[in-house]
Amino acid sequence: MNTRTDRPVFLDLRKIRMPVMAVVSIFHRASGILMVLSIPAFIYLLDLSLRDEAGFRAVIEILRSTPVKLFGVVLVWALAHHLFAGIRFLLLDMDQGVDVTEARKTAWMVHAAAIAATLMAIGVML
Ligand code: HEM
Repeated sequence: MNTRTDRPVFLDLRKIRMPVMAVVSIFHRASGILMVLSIPAFIYLLDLSLRDEAGFRAVIEILRSTPVKLFGVVLVWALAHHLFAGIRFLLLDMDQGVDVTEARKTAWMVHAAAIAATLMAIGVML
């Protein structure tokens, strides 16, 4: 069996300069996981809001609090990034934009579009 001894044994992710396509890929996974994990909170808020008038008012209060608004901004970014990156991945699966120059360009476009959508959402929320 061929055992290589020159393989890296320690990878410091902070020191690796990742290409923009890798960052899109990592963010896509992270945003998907974040959205899934936030589903119970949404179900709880929906349930509370439908219980009675007091519950509905309590949900309004929760949604108006600054930490929840900030989390909302992160979630909007997560959804926007996941949507745009997901479309990009589906196009790549269909062999569209696989050339490295084009793939780099579309990766930057995903970041830009997600940030633009988030800024628009902030504008609506404020
Ligand atoms: C908005 C439209 C969406 C599109 C176009 C989309 C697209 C995709 C695609 C193409 C993948 C597979 C990526 C790959 O090949 O590795 C994926 C993975 C995933 N999506 Fe979505 N998605 C969307 C919405 C959502 C939502 C709303 C959630 C969560 C509530 C979600 C959660 C996930 C998760 C957890 C994964 C697996 C991530 C991974 O392991 O890499 N997606 N999505």
